[in-house]
Formats: sequence, C-alpha cells, structure tokens
Amino acid sequence: SITRLSTPDLRARKGAEPIVCLTAYTAPMARLLDQHVDLLLVGDSLGMVVYGLDSTLPVSLDMMIAHGAAVVRASEQACVVVDLPFGCYQESPQAAFRASARVMQETGAQAVKLEGGLEMAETVAFLTARGIPVMGHVGLTPQSVNTLGGYKALGRDPAVAERIVADARAIAQAGAFSVVLEAVMEPLARRITEEIAIPTIGIGGSPACDGQVLVTDDMLGLFGQFQPKFVKRYAEMADTVTQAVASYAAEVRTRRFPGPEHCFGIKKPTTTDA
Ligand code: KIV
Ligand code: NA
Repeated sequence: SITRLSTPDLRARKGAEPIVCLTAYTAPMARLLDQHVDLLLVGDSLGMVVYGLDSTLPVSLDMMIAHGAAVVRASEQACVVVDLPFGCYQESPQAAFRASARVMQETGAQAVKLEGGLEMAETVAFLTARGIPVMGHVGLTPQSVNTLGGYKALGRDPAVAERIVADARAIAQAGAFSVVLEAVMEPLARRITEEIAIPTIGIGGSPACDGQVLVTDDMLGLFGQFQPKFVKRYAEMADTVTQAVASYAAEVRTRRFPGPEHCFGIKKPTTTDA
C-alpha cells in the first residue's frame, strides 16, 4: 500500500519544492484532495465553516478527533495534521501531550498543529521529544481573536513584526517540523522564511513561503460568510449548488423528476421513435 508523506519528508522540502496544503474536514473532500496535496490540515476553522460558529474558540477536542479520523480514513497519500483546539493545550505541556496523544491514537494523523510563539516553545519541545510532530502557527492566531481584537493582518508595526519573527524562531528551535504564517505583511513572511530552518506555510503570507495553505471551502467558493484578501477563488461552488437545487425543486414541483429511468418497474423508453 502507498505510504504517506511523513513530517520529515515535508521538513526536508525547505528550499526545494513548494508544499501544497489545503484544509479537509470530511471523508469525501479528503478523498478528492488526497492525490493533489502534500498535507491535509484538519483545521479548527471547521467550527466556522462546518458548524456555523462565530469563532474557533468553541471547537472541542472531540470534534477535532471525529473529523480527523474521517480525513485519515479517506486519504492515503497526504500527511494529515489535526489542529489542537482552544483550551486543550495552552495550560501546560502535560495537558498538550494528553490532548495530542488522543489525537494521534484516535485519528491516526501524523502530527498536531498548535497556535502560538515564544509562550508555546516549551510545549512544542515537550511534544516533539515524546514522539508527537508539531506544526506551529504564528502571526494571526484565530484562537487569540479576543486578545488581538479582530482578524486583521499583522506586522505593519515594527515591534509586532519583531515579535512575530521571535515567535517563528522559537517554534522552529523547539523542534516544530513546519510553521504556518497567517495574515502577516509580505516582507515579514519572506524574511521569516529566509531566517528559519523549517518550512513556512503561508496563508496571507508570501509567494516566497515554502508552502501555501487555504481553507478549501473558501477557495472553492463554497463558504461565502466572509472573504479575506488572501483567498483566491478557484471555483464558484455555491453557485453550482444553488443552480442544481433550484433545478431539482422545479422538477419535483412539476413532476418532471423522477423520470422513468429513476423508477423501479417501469420499462426503459425505447429509442425507435428517436
Ligand atoms: O484552521 C485552519 O483552517 C487553519 C489554517 C487556516 C492554517 O489553521
Ligand atoms: Na486553525
């Protein structure tokens, strides 16, 4: 059977081929993406995208495990990384280990991702030393929306920019195999990518990042709640769904669906009169 890309494989891509990442929350989407991406991220963005929540804060570890297991079951090639949700890891390295061990045992994922910089470095070192690969996430960290005061790009202010560089450095030195840079000024993302030894994965970062990630539902035009500047829409799937559902509704109301070919016990129409 096919072996998955491992976290050391991805770590080794620094300075080589860009790393392609997308989010996946469900089996059917994971199946569709698996052959095209290097990394499937089971992001806690599922709170907003799948569950209609206002932020990622209410997402639970059980929710992440249920979706992580579905994505692992439906993929065979990509490295699967599961977000640790708010509240299960910030308190201590021990709490983070317990939550991460559940993710690894109950989903079969290859790694966990956690948000934070300097303050999480000890936890990243604790986990990686104990067999749990970690992806970092610095810059705009949505689990801290209440202290950040909103979802806005960071790094215009030089002091904030220096802090984000220090965060990325700390996470890299602590042993993370990769780090997400979210919604930071382009020159800052470029500088961090040059300065740290692990691959940077940009989302609102820079083309110079070692890889890119987007929320799949955003890039497919499925999730229209809000559209950050960094989203490029590669499809308009919401329009496709709307058109299909409108056609179905009209055909049911006019009894054009189901046709004879969708019914049991009705002879197929002959083609002799065609
Ligand atoms: O939850 C998520 O989807 C993420 C990515 C946007 C990096 O953390
Ligand atoms: Na996330």
